Amino acid sequence: MNSFIYDIPTKVYFGENQLGHLGEELGRYGKKVLLTYGGGSIKKSGLYDKVVAEIKKAGLELFELSGIEPNPKVSSVRAGAELCKKEGIEVLLAVGGGSVIDCTKFIGAATFYDGDAWDILEEKAEITRCLPILDVLTLAATGSEMDSVGVISNSETKDKICQGSPLMQPKVSFLDPTVTYTVSPYQTACGAADMLSHVIEVYFNMNKDLYMLDTVMEGLMKTIIKYAPVAMAQPDNYEARANLMWVSSWAINGFVEGGKRQSWSCHPMEHELSAIYDITHGLGLAILTPKWLEYCLNETTASKYYQFGCSVFGLDASLEPMEVAKKSIALVEEFLFRTLGLKSRLSEIEIDDSNFEVMAAKAVRLGNLGNAFVPLDKNDVINIFKMCL
Ligand code: NZQ
Ligand code: ZN
Repeated sequence: MNSFIYDIPTKVYFGENQLGHLGEELGRYGKKVLLTYGGGSIKKSGLYDKVVAEIKKAGLELFELSGIEPNPKVSSVRAGAELCKKEGIEVLLAVGGGSVIDCTKFIGAATFYDGDAWDILEEKAEITRCLPILDVLTLAATGSEMDSVGVISNSETKDKICQGSPLMQPKVSFLDPTVTYTVSPYQTACGAADMLSHVIEVYFNMNKDLYMLDTVMEGLMKTIIKYAPVAMAQPDNYEARANLMWVSSWAINGFVEGGKRQSWSCHPMEHELSAIYDITHGLGLAILTPKWLEYCLNETTASKYYQFGCSVFGLDASLEPMEVAKKSIALVEEFLFRTLGLKSRLSEIEIDDSNFEVMAAKAVRLGNLGNAFVPLDKNDVINIFKMCL
């Protein structure tokens, strides 16, 4: 194992009826609260009323920013930062999925920057401070509730950039699985595909000394495969929603990384798809992941696929590694496309090859794909995109 520092300064309130602690936690950080949320799901579900009641009960002053888009846009970051500066906001409360939390992270950072918020994404400006961020997670998927990065899109330049700072790590996250009962089967499926990809991006490496982390990751993947279909069929199944919600956080909170330093592969490629076509992140990953696995399979890497197939899908360990590897890719496809019912090809979501060159070049540069599990250059990425057509 490589050496690493492990520090997750996010306090988690997990389970039902924890919102009673919201006022006291917000109050630790300030009196002027900016509540950020998306397109209205929290109003429909009644969560908005509960959150506002807690804020008022604690005697805090409430401001609001609504309408944060899925694949959040820098325009929302700009609007939020402007509001924070004007009103002297002291603490941010994101209530939503990854998009709302990500956007709120950059609102927090951009509040302390006088230039354009996009400079922060492009690393033209350093993140020097950030308003404290608390969140109420409403969708199990990205892990933004327990990590220090965010992903923001720019509609004008068609860029989508992932950027981070420990200063943006949420201080407190409220994880109530019942809040996710209203998540649609489609978003539940996309969330599951996203979480599965977060683990796969780390699990597929050629280090030999990470047994403890490998077994944890195998458990996380088995949990997603077991419970995602249950949550889709029975939206109010607490056991399924709770297991998925906790996987969301643990898939990406740094624990399973264990000092590994390889770049992720499918995420940089997917970010280019959603940058241009504004598709749901988990759907893009579902389409890319099996083809990427197929592309990276060779005599050297087959042993990892063998471990994956035997441990996660219980495949027969007496078979040849290459056979297990191919079967395991087929089982990933079966899970994503048959069990979860996600579309399996770019052409099905009206994406053609017209932007492959530019997307591949950006993915390699922004994602440092030369340092991935199997190093990828621009042509490799174009080949993978073509396999997904
Ligand atoms: O906007 P509202 O009305 O709230 O509706 C949302 C949205 O339409 C809805 N939704 C959320 N919770 C709900 C609900 N509907 C009913 N009931 C609920 N309880 O679901 C839709 C999608 O929400 P969104 O927040 O966009 O989904 P997700 O959590 O998957 O976030 C995706 C974004 O996160 C980024 C992605 O690239 C994408 O921009 N990522 C962030 C990461 C991070 N911070 O670490 C890592 C990820 O790999 C990912 O890149
Ligand atoms: Zn993701």
